Amino acid sequence: SPMDPRTLKIEAAAAALTYVEDGMRLGIGTGSTAEEFVRLLAKKVEEGISVIGVPTSERTAALCRELSVPLLTLEETPQLDLTIDGADEIDAQLNLIKGGGGALLREKIVAAASSRMIVIADASKFVDVLGAFPLPIEINRFGLAATKLAIERVAAGLGLSGALTLRVTGGDAFVTEPFVTDGGHLILDASFGRIPDTRALSNALHAIPGVVEHGLFLNLAHTAILAGADGIQTLQR
Ligand code: A5P
Repeated sequence: SPMDPRTLKIEAAAAALTYVEDGMRLGIGTGSTAEEFVRLLAKKVEEGISVIGVPTSERTAALCRELSVPLLTLEETPQLDLTIDGADEIDAQLNLIKGGGGALLREKIVAAASSRMIVIADASKFVDVLGAFPLPIEINRFGLAATKLAIERVAAGLGLSGALTLRVTGGDAFVTEPFVTDGGHLILDASFGRIPDTRALSNALHAIPGVVEHGLFLNLAHTAILAGADGIQTLQR
């Protein structure tokens, strides 16, 4: 149906495809929306468009290989024309929360290496204030408890509190293991609620030695394509 979340993701991905030009070096995001983009991009490649993709995760790399989308590493092509990725939350300034899929570190490095970033999502991801979606914080395995305390301390200094939950994966009700990122790190999901000063939190988290990266993407996205029941809305920064 037209309101089905998958249909909306495909519509947003299709709109983003119109920004892709022959010869572009593309950062390719992670998650279910980015995967719809990869499927549409693969058809374009089949039809003869020449692009090179740099994937933001092993998962996306595997899908691209399966669908014969040409890939290079960011080492091989460190400057990209355009990155297209999903998001967990998007605000009116096009600041984002990302990392629900656990790929935030590579996603942020790739987005920062791109001249432009387009975010694609169904319109339910659009929010007034970021933070209802728990903020993913990627941390080094060493000193997990100390890093967690440090995060709690800096958050409290900014008037933020809430559970910091170690992300777990797989297994069943009896066996869970920590989720490990492509970079070999762990993720704490921070349920702070509304984050009024995203820049202050970003800076404070970056100052903690055990924090590798966090899911606040500030001033990185240039365009957001939101697909809702009443059509596509494009926001520019
Ligand atoms: C991956 O780490 C995330 O940043 C994704 O971009 C985000 O979780 C969006 O995923 P969906 O498109 O599946 O909602």
